[in-house]
Amino acid sequence: MKSGKIALVTGGNRGLGRATAQALGRHGLRVIVTYRGDAREAEETVRTIQETGGTAAALRLDISDVAAFPDFVSDLTARLERWGATRLDVLVNNAGVGLFGPLEAVTVEDFDAVMDTNVRGTFFLIQALAPVLADGGRIINVSSSLSRHTSAGTSVYSASKAAVEVLSRTLAVELGARGIRVNALAPGPTATDFNGGAMRDDARMREGLGAQTALGRVGEPEEIGDAIAALASEDLRWVTAQRLEVSGGALL
Ligand SMILES: NC(=O)c1ccc[n+]([C@@H]2O[C@H](COP(=O)([O-])OP(=O)(O)OC[C@H]3O[C@@H](n4cnc5c(N)ncnc54)[C@H](OP(=O)(O)O)[C@@H]3O)[C@@H](O)[C@H]2O)c1
Repeated sequence: MKSGKIALVTGGNRGLGRATAQALGRHGLRVIVTYRGDAREAEETVRTIQETGGTAAALRLDISDVAAFPDFVSDLTARLERWGATRLDVLVNNAGVGLFGPLEAVTVEDFDAVMDTNVRGTFFLIQALAPVLADGGRIINVSSSLSRHTSAGTSVYSASKAAVEVLSRTLAVELGARGIRVNALAPGPTATDFNGGAMRDDARMREGLGAQTALGRVGEPEEIGDAIAALASEDLRWVTAQRLEVSGGALL
């Protein structure tokens, strides 16, 4: 059933972002997906949503390029107007990058790239879009189960996601007066292109991680997308400032 509500999913051209956009489409939301470089991948996400009777569009956005956010807000506003709307209802900050390596191997450039994308980009996009977000809207920031469990070589990435969780809780307080709910959703290892596609393509890694997971395997993108759509739904309207881990019980 169509809700008329509108969601924006960053990094919706592939992986968890695509699965999330598709799940929101199935829940009857109109969906705007952003892509950084590959418009064709984003158009493929849009096509799959339209094929099932949904409404979707794609816009370009590099979340590490904070200076370009005012132009992005203009593009977004124009797209909303074409749909007869002025406000977004759901913002899913999904776009992110991984960086895995031991202490001595991490360069300043690597560190900055992860923080610029995962933390700085997420924070300033929320700042830029807060005026466009409807009162009563929702923000879901994609974190990682790695903010809870610990593996060597994940320090910078895990710290970036821990920062995302803290800013989610704090912004839940700041935006709560407008009825906006802010939550972090923390996927466990999931089979996408992430980390060179290891959780999808490396049989030994899949087996090893599966053995450390209560449900015995790594996750599939649709399992994360469905969880994000559920968290965005009215059924969870009283949930804010929370971290929801969706990992099948990884590394408990
Ligand atoms: N898969 C997992 O096991 C896992 C587990 C926990 C958390 N996560 C988190 O889930 C989110 C999605 O990951 P995924 O598994 O779908 O990974 P993915 O397949 O590598 O996709 C990452 C997405 O983020 C986008 N992105 C990266 N940097 C960007 C930037 N500067 N501006 C705009 N878009 C950017 C990518 O765009 P391009 O296509 O242009 O590169 C792509 O759409 C990330 O935040 C990741 O940290 C993933």
